[in-house]
Amino acid sequence: MTTATPPHAFWLAGREAVGDSTLDVTSPWDGRLVGTVSIPTGDQVEEAVAAAAAAADAFPATPAHVRAAALDHVVGRLVERTEEIAQLISAENGKPMKWARGEVGRCVSVFRWAAEEARRWGGGEAQRLDSDAGGTGRLAYTRRFPYGPVLGIAPFNFPLNLCAHKVAPAIAVGTPIILKPAPATPLSGLLLGELLAETDLPAGSWSVLPVPNEQMPSLVQDERLPIISFTGSAPVGWSILDSVPRKRVTLELGGNGAAVVLADYSSDADLDWAAQRIATFANYQAGQSCISVQRVIADTSVHHRLVPRVVAAIEALRTGDPSDPATDVGPLVSEEAARRVESWVEEAVGRGAKVLTGGRRDGATYAPTALEGVPADTRIGCEEVFGPVLTFTEVDGEEAAFAAVNDSKYGLQAGLFTHDVQTAFRAHRALEVGGVVVGDVPSYRADQMPYGGVKESGVGREGVRFAMEDYTYERVMVLTGLDL
Ligand code: SIN
Repeated sequence: MTTATPPHAFWLAGREAVGDSTLDVTSPWDGRLVGTVSIPTGDQVEEAVAAAAAAADAFPATPAHVRAAALDHVVGRLVERTEEIAQLISAENGKPMKWARGEVGRCVSVFRWAAEEARRWGGGEAQRLDSDAGGTGRLAYTRRFPYGPVLGIAPFNFPLNLCAHKVAPAIAVGTPIILKPAPATPLSGLLLGELLAETDLPAGSWSVLPVPNEQMPSLVQDERLPIISFTGSAPVGWSILDSVPRKRVTLELGGNGAAVVLADYSSDADLDWAAQRIATFANYQAGQSCISVQRVIADTSVHHRLVPRVVAAIEALRTGDPSDPATDVGPLVSEEAARRVESWVEEAVGRGAKVLTGGRRDGATYAPTALEGVPADTRIGCEEVFGPVLTFTEVDGEEAAFAAVNDSKYGLQAGLFTHDVQTAFRAHRALEVGGVVVGDVPSYRADQMPYGGVKESGVGREGVRFAMEDYTYERVMVLTGLDL
């Protein structure tokens, strides 16, 4: 006799609950069942939102040591359970173990930073007002307070760490959060809930609800959730913002990240380094990162030496089973996603692009691919591919390189290979992006730094303290009659 494994419970106001329907989570690599998740009913979603609203006044007043201790607890448990959690991420998302372990490490960093920020947060700032006669004896004291509960909507590509970027800052400022993990990868977010449930955080301060995307609009519209922090695709993100223009909405959306190699980056060692970084970060997580390298823009003086190096580095990557420790590139999240990438490459090739390597699909796996001669008005040429595909563009000089970077509707991060600090400052001024990484690819992200885009790449910033600021506003108190 076989006994069916019970579905994973979700987290409703800090406690386990099950609904009346389920969702199967399968491996993108081999289609095996990774887990079955219980889906909350409409009444249970209502209960979680009501609990968040009820907790909203008291939670910010929770002592900093309580919030910091909860965040520290998560750090400790993530460290203890790293291997098991990495296996879960890899199984549900398909990312190779080496990247899954890296994601757990980054999640540790997010919670550690949040614990530290929680201890520093909320001291406020005093300002004399007696610089004008009317303000004699007056002092302004300003502190930040949360707008109210957060709706955090996380994507599939970093199923643990992008949940962490929503949850940890909320706990640090003491604002309740309803977390909605991605339907393709809910297990990592639910596991985060397991760690939070071991803490003394107040009931109602957090829920993890794996609701289907169709139920998202009613949560988005709910006035008891005045803050929305969304990471995902640009069309969905902007439609959220358009549907609730009066809410505080942070959008971390797509990009078609550029790596620029300038003329001074020309020694063999320089080009080897640039090529290796470009090849790795065009294909990590099968290109499913908003800051993966999609466009390689090289000065004409180095272009012809760079291209064969990048192609060789791509061909050295090992594609295959994500659970194999030697695998560099695994499948995309689904066969449908790989078919979309395939059709985009076919479109570019049909319009004259040349495949330098790759260009093949096998199920959900798409071979790491390099293209040249891609017309700007093809989808690969102007949209976010979100797959293991890069394009080469040759430019003449720094200004042309910067113009090529800016010739995109997106503006998330750019990488700039140069040794010249003046060039770095010019790029910082000229590039229409949220971040410029000098000496490396656009894919570099430290979790404490401000992260987010301009143009169609989004609004607002993550990076622990920056999200804490996004979740809160300044409220001033004026004290009068003081003997200053
Ligand atoms: C993203 O894909 O937006 C997140 C990238 C990262 O956290 O490294």
